[in-house]
Amino acid sequence: MTEHELTRRRLLALGLAIPPLAALASTDLFAGELLAATPAIADDDDPTPAQTEGPYFTPNSPLRRSIVPAGAAGVRLTLTGRVLTTAGKPIARALIDFWQADARGAYDNSGYRFRGHQLTDAKGRYALTTVVPGLYPGRTKHIHVKVQPRGGSILTTQLYFPGVARNRSDSIFQSALLVRNWRKVGARRAARFDFVLG
Ligand SMILES: [Fe+2]
Repeated sequence: MTEHELTRRRLLALGLAIPPLAALASTDLFAGELLAATPAIADDDDPTPAQTEGPYFTPNSPLRRSIVPAGAAGVRLTLTGRVLTTAGKPIARALIDFWQADARGAYDNSGYRFRGHQLTDAKGRYALTTVVPGLYPGRTKHIHVKVQPRGGSILTTQLYFPGVARNRSDSIFQSALLVRNWRKVGARRAARFDFVLG
């Protein structure tokens, strides 16, 4: 059985939408200098802290690595990293579901703008293309995420960005959830975060 068939079977089992095979075939996102910056091991082996899901999760998001709608405003952001065990072992085929506000701080609660899930590759890697999320009342900038290894329990958490003034006044902000290696790549931003599942 090919990896594509395995992926399709798993998604069917999860009741998720199945994209054209061509969309699954691309591994280009895992090549190049962005991921080359990922070190061989995680920053530490502490499990990634869980955080509240918040009010805006929508199940059954599309399978896609880019969650930017065509023509959307905002500074493009590429987030890469891995899903690891506390022993630093990569977790292949983990499901990662991202959702966030757009660059103006608005969620799409009727559709799937800035929502999407993906599976880690054989080395536990993921790559998300999005925009830097905007602020909305009461919160600092953040990206919501659910991470689930095959047959395992779901980690629900949020990721944050360095240098955002409102990090200091957001009551649920945690520095352990700051993205790492935050940097400019031309007009874009890039960052890294490894999820460690306990
Ligand atoms: Fe939120």
